[in-house]
Parts: sequence; structure tokens; C-alpha cells
Amino acid sequence: MRKPFIGANWKMNRLGGQSTEFLERLSAYAKVQPEKEIIVFPSMPYLSLLSQNFSDFLGAQNVCHTAGFAALTGETSVVQLKDLGIKYGIVGHSERRFSFYENDDIVLQKATNMLNENLGLVFCCGESMEVRKEGSHLGWIESQLQGLLKSIKPAAAKNLVIAYEPLWSIGTGIIPSLQEIEAMHLHLRSLLHHAFGEEAASDVRILYGGSCNEKNAKDIFSLPNVDGGLIGGASLDWNTFVTICDAL
Ligand code: PGA
Repeated sequence: MRKPFIGANWKMNRLGGQSTEFLERLSAYAKVQPEKEIIVFPSMPYLSLLSQNFSDFLGAQNVCHTAGFAALTGETSVVQLKDLGIKYGIVGHSERRFSFYENDDIVLQKATNMLNENLGLVFCCGESMEVRKEGSHLGWIESQLQGLLKSIKPAAAKNLVIAYEPLWSIGTGIIPSLQEIEAMHLHLRSLLHHAFGEEAASDVRILYGGSCNEKNAKDIFSLPNVDGGLIGGASLDWNTFVTICDAL
């Protein structure tokens, strides 16, 4: 049985005090909702502060493609995340791919570093509107995932979470239809089955991300192959976010 998962991707938002206050509320909420896994991805400078009390609820928005220590100004190593007790990292987000020129090779190196250190990996994939209009979105997603699925062992699949985030939906208020979401998640599930076998693949959570909010969450989360969400803008307000968590 897969544990439902909600990620709050705060991107470059919030200061330390607000982040602490949110995590205090979240840790109280998690005590009464232990059947859900809820992870916050705050801005990097606050990970250290927040990890002192809330490491069970923390993920990193980014990690370096090089493992261990290295002369790489401005980067964060997976071993430093592990040292802080961080549970997850996001890799392959479209904002990293487009604004920071991360290609599939870099994304795969980052993902491999996370899995080698036994950390949870939230691997994002998603097509542009152009690709969707052409009707090649299923093949597009398959090509984004193929390096990862070829390189990881079925035993590591338990640390993998896939987030389907159509680019045209991130931060736009536009979402695919429920049928389109389910069709893509079903496709992802079958790719996982093919790569890892049925048992290991059935442990992998598949999240929907892209303009998921307190109004549409219940319908999206009720789809058979949706195991939760990766929430951006709607995770910044506690009341909105908790409504989304309640919908799971
Ligand atoms: P959004 O962002 O919920 O603001 O669309 C989701 C994401 O980028 O992970």
C-alpha cells in the first residue's frame, strides 16, 4: 500500500520565521494525519535552521550533480543534505531545466546521487503545450524517464517518487482534464512496471503537480493512479495547503 504524499515546493519564497511557523503547524497536523507523508521544500538557506526541529518533513529543492565534496561555488552536496537529516530532494523540475539549463544528463547525475545516498527522490517530468498539441506527450515523458529507469535497481525504487508536472500548468491556473491526468499517470505506472517489475513499481508514488489547489485537489487525488501532489503557489498559505492535505 503506497503512502499518499504531498510536497510543498516553496521555490524562492518565504523568510525563516514564516517557514518555522508553517513547519510548527505542519508537525502538529502530521501527528493527527500519520497516514500521509507531507514534505516541505523550503529555500536552501533555511534548510539548516529548519532541520534542527523538523527534519522529518524536509526536502531540498536542488542538489549538486557532483557527489561528495568539490570546488563548486554555490552548490550543495548530497552528503551535506544527508548530514542535516533531509529526507527528499527534487530533481528535474522544469524551472531548473529552463532557467538553469539542466539537461537530462545533469538531471540523471543528480538523481543518481540522491539514490546512492539512500535519500528520497522526487523526479519531475512534464511536456510543453507544443508537445501536448502534437500528441507526442506520452513518448516525451518516456524519454525524460528512460535514463533513470534504466539505471536504477528495483530495490532503489522504494525511494523514488515521480511528479508529473505539465509545463503549461505550472503556475498558470490551467490544468489538464482529469482524463488526461489519469491517462498520463497510467502510462507512468506501466513504464515503472516494465522497468522494475510489478512489486517494486507498485511502491512508487506518482504525484500530480501544476496549479493543484484547494478547489481541484479532491478530484485530482481521487484518480486511481494519483498518489498525491507537488504543490507550488497553493502551498504558501497554511489554510489553503491544509485544505489540499485534507483532500488526500
Ligand atoms: P504550481 O507549481 O503549483 O504553482 O503550479 C507546482 C510546481 O512547480 O511544483
